Amino acid sequence: LSDPSFSRAVIDWQRAHGRHALPWQNTRDAYRIWLSEIMLQQTQVTAVLGYYARFLERFPTVHDLAAAPAEDVMAHWSGLGYYTRARNLHACARRVVADYGGVFPSDPALLADLPGIGRSTAAAIAAFSAGARAAILDGNVKRVFARVFGIDAYPGIKPVEDALWRRADALLPEGDGIEAYTQGLMDLGATLCTRGKPDCDRCPLRDRCVAFATNRTSVLPVPKPK
Ligand code: ADE
Repeated sequence: LSDPSFSRAVIDWQRAHGRHALPWQNTRDAYRIWLSEIMLQQTQVTAVLGYYARFLERFPTVHDLAAAPAEDVMAHWSGLGYYTRARNLHACARRVVADYGGVFPSDPALLADLPGIGRSTAAAIAAFSAGARAAILDGNVKRVFARVFGIDAYPGIKPVEDALWRRADALLPEGDGIEAYTQGLMDLGATLCTRGKPDCDRCPLRDRCVAFATNRTSVLPVPKPK
């Protein structure tokens, strides 16, 4: 399952063609990274940008957020949707202050124990803020893997998801580059390997993609059974 040429291809593509100037990039500030990952969980980059800037202006540190009244937090989230995220965000800020003195842990297992942070989000925060070697598997990455590896089953069920996590772990780069690799997988899923019409001609994984080789990009990933 391991294959260093996979992460090499993703990292090289990310450095040449990925996104490098998003406001939560080029920082190791875990608070800013965490906030971006929560806002981006069910929401596209373009919709997040304005909210992200206004939120950080009002709550510049995790201490400011933890100390704020819930109404104030909700008011700055209003319009982004999925309001459970905002309630968990506030609870998480309070936990980071109470349990960790305002410093986010860098261990993905500790991060995943906090409100609103699942396994994939924990890995992304740990990779971007601390260079931790941890695998992500969000909706975009599931789509990329389902196509590249030709996964013939709905990726939302436990055994398939478990198999994808094992692949995701095995494919992590050795040594440097976890940040570019993690961002590269996200960017591939968001910009090339899209649900509708993937841009395979520009894809660094085309030559190893089972879906491309067998003309099945339009039927993979397998949709949720009715
Ligand atoms: N979606 C989730 N995390 C992201 C990130 N760090 N950059 C761009 N889109 C994302």
